[in-house]
Amino acid sequence: MAIAIGCDEAAFELKEAIKAYLVEQKQEVVDMGVYDTTPVLYPDIALKVATAVADGQFERGILICGTGLGMAITANKVPGVRAATCHDVYSAERSRKSNNCQILTMGARVIGVELAKTVVKAWLESEYEGGRSAPKVQRMIEIDEMFHAARGGGKAGE
Ligand code: RB5
Repeated sequence: MAIAIGCDEAAFELKEAIKAYLVEQKQEVVDMGVYDTTPVLYPDIALKVATAVADGQFERGILICGTGLGMAITANKVPGVRAATCHDVYSAERSRKSNNCQILTMGARVIGVELAKTVVKAWLESEYEGGRSAPKVQRMIEIDEMFHAARGGGKAGE
């Protein structure tokens, strides 16, 4: 699976650990930074990963900052993106099965390396189930398109 990964300075070490885990799992991972612990504006990294996912260059994205929250808030501003902060396996699974999230965010100040790997594994192995969730996800896409169109943009990605 093609996966884009990104982080800010607070999550550099966890990002490296997750990247190594993905490589070990034979996933196709592209690191969009940061590459050291120099402070950055985390929204810039979130924008880079979220845009690449929305454009279809990657099936999934993983964004890590101190809490996972700033990354999720920013990623969700990119039309077509559904990003969720998950620090437990159940939420990670539901974010895929019910919400069809393409981006997982986590906080390096919240979760340890081993649990983070387990969460990533569950998230990667879970697929969108549609069914009763389909009209709800469709409604999210419509709301996304409503605001995007109002600003002169095209169709939000699914
Ligand atoms: C540090 O910049 C911290 O604010 C950031 O990593 C993240 O927790 C934001 O949501």
